[in-house]
Amino acid sequence: MNEYLYSKNDQVTLYKGNNVDVLKTLPAESINCVVTSPPYYNLRDYGSATWIGGDANCDHKSIHAKRGMNPTNDYVKQSTSNEGMGVDFYTTCPMCNAMKQDEQLGLEATPKEYVENMVQVFKEVKRVLAKNGTLWLNLGDSYSTFDNNGYKPKDLMGMPWRVAFALQDDGWYLRQDIIWHKPAPMPESVRDRCTKSHEYIFLLSKSAKYYYDADAIKEPTVSAKGFTERMNGNKQSIEQKPYAVIEPEFRKEIIEYRDLPEHNVIKEYLSEWRNKANLTIQEIEDHFNSQAPHHWFETNGSYPSAVDWEELKLLLGFDDFWDKRMTTIYEKSGMKQTGEYRNKRSVWSINTASYKDSHFAVFPKELPMNCIKAGTREGDVVLDLFAGSGTTLQVAQELGRKAIGIDVKAEFLDMCLERTKQMGLF
Ligand SMILES: C[S@@+](CC[C@H](N)C(=O)[O-])C[C@H]1O[C@@H](n2cnc3c(N)ncnc32)[C@H](O)[C@@H]1O
Repeated sequence: MNEYLYSKNDQVTLYKGNNVDVLKTLPAESINCVVTSPPYYNLRDYGSATWIGGDANCDHKSIHAKRGMNPTNDYVKQSTSNEGMGVDFYTTCPMCNAMKQDEQLGLEATPKEYVENMVQVFKEVKRVLAKNGTLWLNLGDSYSTFDNNGYKPKDLMGMPWRVAFALQDDGWYLRQDIIWHKPAPMPESVRDRCTKSHEYIFLLSKSAKYYYDADAIKEPTVSAKGFTERMNGNKQSIEQKPYAVIEPEFRKEIIEYRDLPEHNVIKEYLSEWRNKANLTIQEIEDHFNSQAPHHWFETNGSYPSAVDWEELKLLLGFDDFWDKRMTTIYEKSGMKQTGEYRNKRSVWSINTASYKDSHFAVFPKELPMNCIKAGTREGDVVLDLFAGSGTTLQVAQELGRKAIGIDVKAEFLDMCLERTKQMGLF
């Protein structure tokens, strides 16, 4: 029995521990695809530390330093982030001298150490990855706000590329930098550069030849049809909420333009399948972690987006009857699908997501979905070694893949359990 095993069923296995240690216990070449997002350098403390010695009543919080404690040499004020405040970081508590023990990555004292740790972890990943497997690695950049080993305050650290190059030097094939474009990024108050609205997803492989199903993620080609002028007044519905509740004056035209079925028809269809699946609207909203489903089932409500349609299909088990019309995507600014497809491009526009119980950035489901569809077949094994709330695991399970998740914190593994249990329950 594996000492790190946290829970296991036919589809999902969870391990609690430092991923570099856990990976050493897994068989070589047993994973087909890895989709993961490590903590970014010095951005967030995931609260996994335990303290040894010192005063049991001390909360070991950095605020004490601000109250006039003299920081010792063991105390390092790290602050990078998106030009905001990073995290305060101790190895020894300046209040009570307790020693910090922490297995989480991301809070290394120097950028160099962070990169070295990443190389060590992904060396173990390379061992467990099948020869034709792929690694999809999401990383975001940050700015230095203090003099830190050669970085000046205001310097962009270039950390994603530093990690990518270090992995390349360690033998990985660096195959692509995919830009994750965030259409609605976090607002920033900067006036001397652009607001940051992207992160990276690096596609890395263990061998020159690897499994990659381009057709599984092909995208529809589009052509302009002079639609924008007519729809000017309805800009918001088109640009921000392609399938959202449509204002009555534009409803008919948009439904015709997009060749959507009448809403009532879709509503009846979905309600019938919802009854068969014996699910309440609340249960569906819980599954999506959103109130949108409520509008799909009400008169003159909204249409599920193409991605939501696919997920709803997995949940309710409905047939293919409306698939084509409900998943035909009309792009922003009045571009209409031509019926042809093209190879997926390297800029992915996906809105950020949150998960109800988590305080950190989680993957929007579409992101791991693209990686898993391109990187695996049904029945293959997908690993997320920084599992967090378990988005990768949930998507893998929904797509009929097996999933393995690792995290240092039990609280996060419980979230993973909750998200992956839902499918089994329904
Ligand atoms: C950016 S979050 C991942 C979020 C995830 N993609 C999602 O959709 O929820 C990073 C996670 O890595 C975990 N972590 C940090 N260092 C770790 C380590 N050495 N071993 C295992 N997990 C670690 C943290 O506890 C945190 O949950």
